[in-house]
Amino acid sequence: MSPSDSMPYKILIFYTLITFCTWLAQGEPGKCRDGITKNITPHQLLRQDLFCSYDKESRPVIDFHKNVTVDLKLFVKFFVFDEHKNVLEVHAWLAMSWTDEGLKWNPPDYSNINVLHVKDYDIWMPDISIYNSGNMETNGAWDYTHCVVYSTGIVLCVPTLKWSAQCKANLQQWPFDQQNCTMTIGSWSQSGEQLDINLKDQGIGLEDFASNREWELLKSSAKKEVTKYSSAPNSTYQSIDFHFHIKRHADAYAATVIIPSLAIALLTLGSYWLDPNKSNRLAACCISTLCHCLYLQYLGLKLPVNGTMTPIIILLYRDSLIITSMALVLAVVVERMSSSSNDTSATSAAIPAWLDRFVGVVLDHKAVQLLLLGKFDSKRGDGTSLMENGTQSNEGKQNKDWFILVTIINRLGFLVSLITYFILYIALIPKY
Ligand SMILES: *[C@@H]1O[C@H](CO)[C@@H](O)[C@H](O)[C@H]1NC(C)=O
Ligand SMILES: *[C@@H]1O[C@H](CO)[C@@H](O)[C@H](O)[C@H]1NC(C)=O
Ligand SMILES: *[C@@H]1O[C@H](CO)[C@@H](O)[C@H](O)[C@H]1NC(C)=O
Repeated sequence: MSPSDSMPYKILIFYTLITFCTWLAQGEPGKCRDGITKNITPHQLLRQDLFCSYDKESRPVIDFHKNVTVDLKLFVKFFVFDEHKNVLEVHAWLAMSWTDEGLKWNPPDYSNINVLHVKDYDIWMPDISIYNSGNMETNGAWDYTHCVVYSTGIVLCVPTLKWSAQCKANLQQWPFDQQNCTMTIGSWSQSGEQLDINLKDQGIGLEDFASNREWELLKSSAKKEVTKYSSAPNSTYQSIDFHFHIKRHADAYAATVIIPSLAIALLTLGSYWLDPNKSNRLAACCISTLCHCLYLQYLGLKLPVNGTMTPIIILLYRDSLIITSMALVLAVVVERMSSSSNDTSATSAAIPAWLDRFVGVVLDHKAVQLLLLGKFDSKRGDGTSLMENGTQSNEGKQNKDWFILVTIINRLGFLVSLITYFILYIALIPKY
């Protein structure tokens, strides 16, 4: 026999051998047992039997037109709210369970094993992710987890996850603000006819919830939404909305921002009662202005830009700064007037005639009398003490005119500031 003749026989024998080995390896049809007998534990045998023909990409139902019902509950562990990024970060466990038709077995066949532990990437998983993600870098699911499979086919998975949901902060009432945040989750690609999501006892659990130092969780709830689109009339789309209503712990901010605003407002008001001749009045106004500017800078850095809704506390400081600037201007004017009234040279001290007349008219008014606390009567300049010295009388009258004018300006300034502050605090102080 020539070598060329023997070639087909060799190929035939080789082919037969391969086929035999493949048949051995396959074992019984449907139960792809390892043909090579070796010491194999029931657990290994169970895994082999379950997974040899398992396809983790296909939905675990025998009838394709049936849905997989996933029971779901979110156990919130803690959350972080970032008002700069407008994101609510929820750290939670997502408990899910469903029935996998391909993962059922008869425990007596496998030494009564009725629970199997598997990795989530070895089995079919519902593609549940977050819709309103505040961080598009991640795929909005979880890394990986271990799941428990029971012999009835029930699969239980509890992945840990950190999902950040977009949540637009409204800081108008800062620091007494409350935020409403919603985290929407659902199947990424499947309709409700394929994957039916069910909330299990309210859908949200706060066991082991670690409270936040800055925020108090007032209320949390879960709601299932079913939407239908006209473009797909035979399908429904399901999503779950988790609502979180949170409130800021405001006590610390009330102590560091609200109370100081009152204190520096009092400093501004108090400055009207200081002696206009001394420069400490000017100093008080300057310190108050400086404090306002420092607080405005602090708030500007602390609070993110909030669109058109400027936080009320910033408006309060702004308006208070304007009132204080007025007080500062008035302090300068009054000091100037006082110093000119103390000036003995008659020319510089002369009060303009129209002002003199004005003071005279105004002094007769009952309201002005009230304002000056009855310190001066309308017959100014007739005071006996000033008339005692004849040479001084004219200067004395001049001095007194200036003094009355300064006092009127002071009292008016104080009254206007007080009323403005009153209205400001009533209107702007955030409500609890
Ligand atoms: C937040 O939602 C609650 C109801 O859950 C409502 O009472 C409250 O007024 C809302 N707050 C804001 C700031 O929208
Ligand atoms: C999913 O299947 C269950 C049980 O077969 C059924 O009761 C339910 O209505 C189905 N859900 C949807 C959205 O079709
Ligand atoms: C929806 O279902 C109806 C009845 O089963 C069918 O006639 C129709 O073609 C379906 N529509 C689409 C968009 O699948």
